[in-house]
Amino acid sequence: MNNTSDIVLEQMKSRRSVRKFSPQMPERWKLEKVVEAGLWAPSGHNKQPWAFIVVTDEETKRQLAEDNKAFCDFETTNPFYDAPAYIIVLAQKSTRTYVYDGALAMGQMMIAAHTLGLGTCWIHRARQTFELTHWQKWLRSLGFEGEYEGIGHLAIGYPEGALPKARPRKEGLVKFV
Ligand SMILES: Cc1cc2nc3c(=O)[nH]c(=O)nc-3n(C[C@H](O)[C@H](O)[C@H](O)COP(=O)(O)O)c2cc1C
Repeated sequence: MNNTSDIVLEQMKSRRSVRKFSPQMPERWKLEKVVEAGLWAPSGHNKQPWAFIVVTDEETKRQLAEDNKAFCDFETTNPFYDAPAYIIVLAQKSTRTYVYDGALAMGQMMIAAHTLGLGTCWIHRARQTFELTHWQKWLRSLGFEGEYEGIGHLAIGYPEGALPKARPRKEGLVKFV
């Protein structure tokens, strides 16, 4: 391995889901870099079917958390862990690979955020949330026409305290043939 691949792999391995955030808002340029990493993800037939919405507005975050909570099958005060910002990822249902494409963009953004000293956590239930009429209307008000499905949200911000410890990798999941 050369030096760059060592560094990239180390960043991938040291990323952890963060569930405790400092209230400090990440710098705008960092959020832009994270989204850039999503925009450069590969996609089936290069359709780039996604939409990324960076949310820092308190009222919008509150509503997203409230709706998300309604779909949780566990107890939580805030499913977004009071993160200062959220990044919503949606993808156009008209393409064959939109779910894979959206998930890959999420992955790239999580790594990019980590390299910038930011913590993220994938927050699920975006599909159910963005099926709600008021969020569909909101998407149209932002200029997103067409049928979008919610893929996921990233809670994003500076981690509060040390990153959680990684759990060991499962054995026997890889074969070379
Ligand atoms: C598709 C997907 C959905 C997830 N949904 C949630 C979620 O709603 N809330 C949460 O706290 N973590 C969620 N996670 C984070 C996982 O729990 C986490 O990635 C896993 O425990 C491994 O930990 P690590 O990310 O620190 O390696 C999700 C992760 C993925 C990939």
